[in-house]
Amino acid sequence: PTLNRSESEDSGIVFRMKKSGRSIAIFYGSQTGTAEEFATRLAKDAQRYGMKALAVDPEECNMEELAELHQIENSLAIFCMATYGEGDPTDNAQDFYDWLQQGDTQLDGLKFAVFGLGNKTYEHYNSTGIYVDKRLEELGAERVYEIGLGDDDTNIEEDFVTWKEGLWPTVCEKFGIEVSKQEGSFRSYSFTKYEPDDIDEKTVYSGEVARLHSYKNQRPPYDAKNPYLSPVLVNRELHKGGGRSCMHIEFDITDTKIRYEAGDHVAVYPTNDVTMVEKIAKRLDVDLDTFFTLDAIDEDASKRHPFPCPTTFRTALLHYLDISSPLRTNVLSEFVEYTSDEKDKEFLTLLSSPTPEGKKKYQEWVMDARRNLLAILDDVPSCNPAMDHICELLPHLQARYYSIASSPKMHPTSIHICAVLVEYDTSSGRTNLGVATNWLKTKIPVPGSEASVQPRVPIYVRKSQFRLPFKVSHPVMMVGPGTGLAPFIGFIQDRAYHKEAGKDVGKTTLYFGCRKREEDFIYEEHLTKWKEDDVLTELKIAFSRDGPKKVYVQHLLAENKQSVWENIQNHGHIYVCGDARHMAREVHDAIVDIVVECGGKSQQQATDFVKGLMNKGRYSADVWS
Ligand code: FAD
Ligand code: 2AM
Repeated sequence: PTLNRSESEDSGIVFRMKKSGRSIAIFYGSQTGTAEEFATRLAKDAQRYGMKALAVDPEECNMEELAELHQIENSLAIFCMATYGEGDPTDNAQDFYDWLQQGDTQLDGLKFAVFGLGNKTYEHYNSTGIYVDKRLEELGAERVYEIGLGDDDTNIEEDFVTWKEGLWPTVCEKFGIEVSKQEGSFRSYSFTKYEPDDIDEKTVYSGEVARLHSYKNQRPPYDAKNPYLSPVLVNRELHKGGGRSCMHIEFDITDTKIRYEAGDHVAVYPTNDVTMVEKIAKRLDVDLDTFFTLDAIDEDASKRHPFPCPTTFRTALLHYLDISSPLRTNVLSEFVEYTSDEKDKEFLTLLSSPTPEGKKKYQEWVMDARRNLLAILDDVPSCNPAMDHICELLPHLQARYYSIASSPKMHPTSIHICAVLVEYDTSSGRTNLGVATNWLKTKIPVPGSEASVQPRVPIYVRKSQFRLPFKVSHPVMMVGPGTGLAPFIGFIQDRAYHKEAGKDVGKTTLYFGCRKREEDFIYEEHLTKWKEDDVLTELKIAFSRDGPKKVYVQHLLAENKQSVWENIQNHGHIYVCGDARHMAREVHDAIVDIVVECGGKSQQQATDFVKGLMNKGRYSADVWS
């Protein structure tokens, strides 16, 4: 297959690189922005080593040009590839991935290196990066440096830094370039500040994702670049007790042409905490209402601005920048020059150095204590970075995904979610608040009022592979403890709809788990009613903290092994949703055990059998960590 050649020859990537004297292309497959951020950092690093690089979104170029890259002297393609979901490439790398899989374009002469971004809690750890690395070699390309694998479950920043510290000297050696790294700051964007009189406020972005005024003039179709400002119709507490909180939220999508299916995800663009933004501004003595633009210094850069500009510091900090994650080492390293006290300087230098002591301190002091920008500014008092430089350095605020907890058959004009409020204490004595959930908490609808006056949240629907069987007569077995229940509310509504319509609906079984019946048994009334009405054929609930010992969903699966096995034999589909860290794996193992016991298979045969179910779409997981 060939990829669409949307651009003309001379707007192609090789042409652009030749024209701007670049030799390195850094492609990123990014879903939540980290791979893109790493690619941008590699491009800056290249500059420090005396080379010129371009960070490229594979979706925005013709990847067939990889075969021509070797025309450029000392050229190199670096790939920062994230693995997403069930071992899938990211949306923006999907076409490239398919092309690699199906095509046979010879890539002789191409030099490459791959860094994979993944998470060890998932089964298909880093499978996209590993595949790209292997496939490029099969197609004749030359690997100049071994693949790096980043694990987001531990410390992906450290994995990345360690990998790139080895990459650059190897690249320099390969190309016969003297290894010398220029320290100090390299700015990618130039800062222009405007006086209020010098700027037309109509040109100023106020939080839009892409199109100016898109929140004022809303126009379908709605997607990641053009989210719908959806009125919040319902926001109610699902927990009945205990200290935690879980919200049931309903977004209105009347007259929007937004379509969804049970099993899809809805993405929410959150706003950062206003108090935190104000504290940062106060600490750095910055006027949040300053109008400014950041323009790419390099006119061939792929992005003209790091985020929509012109804007104000307030908007940038509230809507565009990730101010709440632990700071990355490259940011800490840039902060050194803004620090006056020698001890503070030394400390920041240590934190950002790729030495064993530096990495250990960074892990402890930044990662484990989850120190964000404000915490670091407060704990390193003589550090006073320029706000425009901070705006250039921080990663971008990302949308959060939620499993949709409704079915369009029952709720064609609204999308429901259930979300657990994130709030935790850190070892530095602070309380950290999850950005999206704490912002959603404030979106309380006015009782009895119409949608037009309700608080609004920018959303879009992201299609998923998590789907009910095509035939409603096939049995369905759902395993979803905690908020893992969310998509199954949609699934059950779907089944209820078909049952009401008189269809022959197969067995519908739900395994749910929570701590205590009186506290976090969410949607109890609905589940009980569905059981009474026989919409749910079986409802098994594991209360982990009500009895003398922990009971989890996988224990109940084991107790009901015959029924599980019968379901599997009757064309049943198994669905698992929720915690990726332990639950999903333990449930998988419990199912394999059942196949061993009831199916009379060996461990290996049972494992292969379950893998077969997965390949046939009869065992699906929708998990997150
Ligand atoms: P953030 O500001 O993003 O903070 C969360 C981060 O804080 C965590 O990643 C972790 O690094 C850190 N953290 C959290 N707790 C602690 C702790 N105790 N100690 C140290 N660090 C900690 N969530 C739902 O509630 N319901 C859903 O249905 C749902 N579906 C999802 C579906 C998908 C496909 C994905 C990818 C995620 C889903 N999530 C769901 C998770 C959701 O997207 C958000 O990650 C979650 O709501 C937290 O967002 P936040 O902005 O409030 O927190
Ligand atoms: P616990 O917190 O009492 O350990 C929803 O979070 C439910 O999932 C809770 O009852 C929680 O129990 C349970 N849970 C925790 N770890 C689990 C695991 N590894 N497998 C299945 N359920 C788990």
